[in-house]
Amino acid sequence: MSSAAVPKSASLRKTAAAMASAGKRMNSTRTYGGLKDQDRIFQNLYDSYGKDLKSAERMGDWYKTKEILLKGDTWIINEIKASGLRGRGGAGFPSGLKWSFMNPPGWENNKGPRYLVVNADEGEPGTCKDREIIRKDPHKLVEGCLVAGRAMNATAGYIYIRGEFYNEAKTLQTAINEAYAAGYLGKDCCGSGYSFDLYIHRGMGAYVCGEETSLIESIEGKAGKPRLKPPFPAGVGLFGRPTTVTNVETVAVSPTICRRGGSWFASFGRERNQGTKLFCISGHVNEPCTVEEEMSIPLKELLEKHCGGVRGGWDNLLGVIPGGASVPVLPKHICEDVLMDFDALRDVQSGLGTAAVIVMDKSTDIVRAIQRFAHFYKHESCGQCTPCREGTTWLSKVMNRFQNGQGTEREIDMLIELTKEIEGHTICALGDAAAWPIQGLVRHFRPEILKKFEQFEDRAGSVSIGGWTPTSAVADGMVKGIGAPPTADHH
Ligand SMILES: Cc1cc2nc3c(=O)[nH]c(=O)nc-3n(C[C@H](O)[C@H](O)[C@H](O)COP(=O)(O)O)c2cc1C
Ligand code: SF4
Repeated sequence: MSSAAVPKSASLRKTAAAMASAGKRMNSTRTYGGLKDQDRIFQNLYDSYGKDLKSAERMGDWYKTKEILLKGDTWIINEIKASGLRGRGGAGFPSGLKWSFMNPPGWENNKGPRYLVVNADEGEPGTCKDREIIRKDPHKLVEGCLVAGRAMNATAGYIYIRGEFYNEAKTLQTAINEAYAAGYLGKDCCGSGYSFDLYIHRGMGAYVCGEETSLIESIEGKAGKPRLKPPFPAGVGLFGRPTTVTNVETVAVSPTICRRGGSWFASFGRERNQGTKLFCISGHVNEPCTVEEEMSIPLKELLEKHCGGVRGGWDNLLGVIPGGASVPVLPKHICEDVLMDFDALRDVQSGLGTAAVIVMDKSTDIVRAIQRFAHFYKHESCGQCTPCREGTTWLSKVMNRFQNGQGTEREIDMLIELTKEIEGHTICALGDAAAWPIQGLVRHFRPEILKKFEQFEDRAGSVSIGGWTPTSAVADGMVKGIGAPPTADHH
């Protein structure tokens, strides 16, 4: 809709109402959570309606898309900036600012293709939100690609989808075909004069291919190994052209933001953490689910309201990993009142990540859980930088020993020292992701590791020193000999 097409009084009324509602939400006694149905962006998350174009249009998708496109790149980017949207792929970088890097002064002189790449790899363990969007609300993503593409002046978009998501890729392709048939994609999208093509690229299911530059390499047909930055993709990206890689959820919320206004989206959640958000909750809750809620909702409320609470009651909670396998675990006493947003979780030395909430009750062997993660990161390291390749292998071996109770207290500090040598010293953030869960374990559950050492000493008798006995030997990175459990399962 061109701004001239909106009656001024109606537009002002809308702005005033949005500001009043935002103001009401900003007072100091404000609580967060309890998102109302009418404020949910993903109306079809539970498959209540159809996912075809007609059903999507009935839910409000593709409404006045032409007008949004006609408003132009600067208007869309300003609206995204005003919404406070931060990337939903994990790092939480402000989306409006990121998208604006595609349009530096004089960008028009750099003739040729320019790409939007949508990250649908969703490899982070515990994360199951992007696949839900694609399964049930594919038109939200397709329309989002068009709007985000227009904002970046992209000529084409690639949706890089995890190879295992075969059915999801089919659903998405059907939605793309419907959009082409309706004249929403292709030449002169929606009759706006803007041309944009959209393709699906299926990956092979490697976690590291979710990293943006690795993903670009993979689309180019190369092995998925992250690139050194700079140059950043907005300068030199896919096929050497300006590119922005952004997450499915980030893209899918953008048309609704443009329709309802940045101030509407910004009225949810705390300052710097605005918006609604998909939380995917798994593990020891009564009803695991993916739910859209207001940002900054207290973790306890999220679990009790939407997941039927912790299995066996709140007091049976051991800890929660609040943002996918890469972020540090939080013990119960922090879970009591922590808010689910970027800043609150950073302040307690964890992170919102992908908002994949993994709940663990007291039946969990937390050392075993983190040991399993360590194995995952070792397995997924692309191996091109030494601190990650060697470090993840080393972390995994030490965690295997600790899981068996083979170690000394001094080694716990050495393990932390090792994580510090990896963290921040690698090409991509997979190194950090490997280091942080172990740091969280030691920070909050050191006694659990020590208990395993004591149990080993009890099994081995007084001849054992830190998991070693006179007949011990090392094989496959493991101490073998007296005291080692008969069935050590490391994977
Ligand atoms: C090892 C690794 C795996 C990643 N996997 C994903 C993923 O599956 N999906 C995703 O959106 N972002 C993933 N990311 C983050 C992306 O690199 C990138 O930051 C993100 O797609 C940007 O989108 P946003 O700006 O919308 O948050 C991963 C990063 C790393 C280091
Ligand atoms: S940090 Fe790990 S995964 Fe990332 S580039 Fe280096 S070796 Fe590869």
